[in-house]
Amino acid sequence: MTSPPDTDALFAAALAVRDRAYVPYSGFAVGAAILGADGAIYSGCNVENAAYPEGTCAEAGAIAAMVAAGETRIAAVLVVADSAHPISPCGGCRQKLAEFAPDDAPVILAGLAGPQVRTTVGALLPAGFAAGHMEGV
Ligand code: THU
Repeated sequence: MTSPPDTDALFAAALAVRDRAYVPYSGFAVGAAILGADGAIYSGCNVENAAYPEGTCAEAGAIAAMVAAGETRIAAVLVVADSAHPISPCGGCRQKLAEFAPDDAPVILAGLAGPQVRTTVGALLPAGFAAGHMEGV
């Protein structure tokens, strides 16, 4: 990142897609918006399932939308939920984000009133497993 992401646009996109979350089991709606390196915003919501482990997180949906559009480089991410403490990506989603993001990519954690915490992909997943570990195998 050479300049801060347009947080307002990311927040608006994440908030809008959160309204479409399919959450009949938890009732906990999450929205995620990714700023691609191409400058476009890709959004996703959580989609739950009666077979609980088959549900998918908002971040996974946003990543799928980004890849489906032909972009594979994450410049920034914003996640929003109605939570007393700002929501933070789950462990699996940290790994999913790290696949497409540099360590210094901003991750903005937001409540309904707006962004609350700014961290990075690398800070959320220190010493993560990556493709480089398989080099030479
Ligand atoms: N959830 C997300 O979508 N993203 C996160 O980072 C954490 C959790 C969803 C999964 C499930 O549908 C609901 O929140 C409760 O765990």
